[in-house]
This record gives sequence, C-alpha cells and structure tokens, in this order.
Amino acid sequence: MRQKVSLQPYNTFGIDVNAFQFQSVTSIEDVQELLRETPEENVFVLGGGSNMLLTKDIEKTVMHIALKGYEVVDANFEENELLLKVAGGENWHDFILYCIERNYGGVENLSLIPGNVGTSPIQNIGAYGVELKDVFYSCQAVSRRTGELKVFTLEDCGFGYRDSVFKNELKDQFIITSVTFRLTKKDHKINTDYGAIYDTLKAKGITEPTIKDVSDAVIAIRQSKLPDPKKLGNSGSFFKNPTINQATFTALRSKFPDVPYYPVGSDSIKVPAGWLIEKAGFKGRRYGDAGVHDKQALVLVNHGNASGQEIWSLALRIQNKVQDLFGLKIIPEVNVF
Ligand code: EPU
Repeated sequence: MRQKVSLQPYNTFGIDVNAFQFQSVTSIEDVQELLRETPEENVFVLGGGSNMLLTKDIEKTVMHIALKGYEVVDANFEENELLLKVAGGENWHDFILYCIERNYGGVENLSLIPGNVGTSPIQNIGAYGVELKDVFYSCQAVSRRTGELKVFTLEDCGFGYRDSVFKNELKDQFIITSVTFRLTKKDHKINTDYGAIYDTLKAKGITEPTIKDVSDAVIAIRQSKLPDPKKLGNSGSFFKNPTINQATFTALRSKFPDVPYYPVGSDSIKVPAGWLIEKAGFKGRRYGDAGVHDKQALVLVNHGNASGQEIWSLALRIQNKVQDLFGLKIIPEVNVF
C-alpha cells in the first residue's frame, strides 16, 4: 500500500490531487482482500480515470483496478458469435484493437473511447450509433459490502442512454471485475448510419467496409474533433445531451430554428449539448487553464495546471448560461468528486 500518492497520472483530466492511500489490485482475491481490510466507506474505486473530475484530495484508500486478461468462454455462441470475457482493468481501445486483429465484430464503432473495460457498463458508453448494451452479454462484479462475486445479465443492468443500474439502485455497491461481450465471427453487422462515418468512408471510396475500415473511420473522426487526453487533459463529453418532450422542443425551435435534434422514442427529442454550449458563446473559451475545446464544445479541457475546482466553476458557469438562454438544464455525465 502506497501513502499520499498523486492521482495526476491516473485521471485523464490530469488533475493533481493526492490519494491518502493507493493500492493496485490485479486479481479478484486482491479486490476481496482489500475490501476485508478496509471499511467500505473508505474505499475509492479507480478504473481508467477517464470519466471523472477530481476537485479535492481523496482522503480514502484508492483501489486501482489493474485486472488483466482475455478469455473466449464460448467459441460457438449462437452460430456466428462468440463470447469473450475481458478483465476490468484492460484498456478499452486495446480491447477494440484485439477484436479487429482477430476479426471479432460489434465494437468497431466504439474505437478510441478512453477508459477501461470494467467501467464501460456503468454509463453504457456509446458513440457513432452503437452503445455498449448492443454487444454486452454479462459482467462479473464483487459486492463492496459482502465481497461476494455476482454475475449481471443484460436485463439486470437496466441500460439506458449513458445510464445503468450501477449509476442508480446499485450506485457504489459493486466493483466490476470483468465484462463478457457477444461478438460476431463473420457476416458482421456493419453500422454506418451515423452521417460522419458514411461520409468518411465515401471520401475514401470504400463501398463495402470491413470492421477495420469502420474502426479507422471512427478513429479519424474522433481525432479530428476530440482532444487526445495525453496531450490535452479532458474527460470526453462533460455533459449529457438533454432529452426533452415535443412541446418543449417546439418552443425551443421557434426561437432557434437551426437547432440540431434527434428524435428518441415517440415523444422525446435529444438536443446536442455541444450546440447549446457553442451557441452560448463558450466554444474555444479559456479561463486560466480551464477551457472549452475549440473543436467540440461538449468537451472541457485542462490546458495545463487547472485545478478540479476551476474546471468545475467553468462547468457551472456554462450550465447557468445554457439555462438562462434556452431554459434547458444540462447535466454532467462525468462523475465529480
Ligand atoms: N455541435 C455543435 N457544436 C459543437 C459540438 C457539436 O454545434 O461544439 C453539434 C454538431 O454540429 C452536431 C451535433 O451537435 O449537429 C452532435 O455532435 P456530435 O456528432 O459531435 O455528437 P455529440 O452529441 O456532441 C455524442 C456523444 C459522444 C460521441 C458522439 C458520437 C454524448 C454526451 N456524447 O456527442 O461521446 O462520441 O455523440 O456518437 O452523448 C463521450 O461520451 O465522451 C463522447 C465523446
């Protein structure tokens, strides 16, 4: 167990706060042992650190999830599929590359998302027309209270847009140690519905894309507008896109006819928070080292030495301005500590 450890290398915002104690765990037994030794309320679980904003020192024992490994648990699932179990501490994009190399289909649209496999179910990560739930079979997790290992099926997880049971009823109750994915072995379902993917492939003259072509297109699109956390600290989208009802949307559109939108379900409409923030004048703005990315206003960035408090103040300033201008509340999707 290390004492007073800087968490700067462990969060993609690059915020320099200290952990009271720090321990990497590499097996389920390690996880259970640490839980036995430390009162539950004194344990802070850290995965890839890609979806959090740290605004103060963590006066707890940080359990750094470093479980590694891949295992095909069923090579012939549903004829054309296989089940691949991946340890929670594996890096998400390394997992995608592993799949592309072996021609396992289903996750290519989720290329280059920062973070770890074990945290992907918590907010049901998604991008370019695919969400984790589309390839999820089950996950294994350890109860923080009892140390018992439990399996969660797709139904158990209650996935929604950037949402799951692990953010609600079971918040802070389980540590996900592995995720099992169902992936296709051939005749992959290529998903190029998302306009930018279609355009990128078309520009390259690709008419029958492979999963690698799709992955490469997604990587190119992401690199063109999302900052690389290794170069510019960030946590991806800072806010969720607000979902509103038809009446609210009609009123909004009458004032702002150019508002982009996506219908979801029968009476709900999703409005891109990035557009609202840009329209509110924040795109590319900078307050000290806390800023709004110049190519995608949904992403807050750390230009160097911003504190978590400074980034949080900026987030609140944006939230208030958007509320004043549009009457819409945008809610952070990152976890703020
Ligand atoms: N837009 C603007 N200005 C901006 C940013 C966006 O006007 O500064 C407009 C765009 O022109 C477009 C619309 O907003 O009409 C949507 O933009 P984009 O396609 O970039 O997607 P998004 O809704 O901003 C979501 C996810 C991203 C994911 C992309 C692609 C959320 C909160 N974010 O962003 O996820 O990569 O779709 O599928 O749902 C993340 O979660 O960290 C993340 C990056």
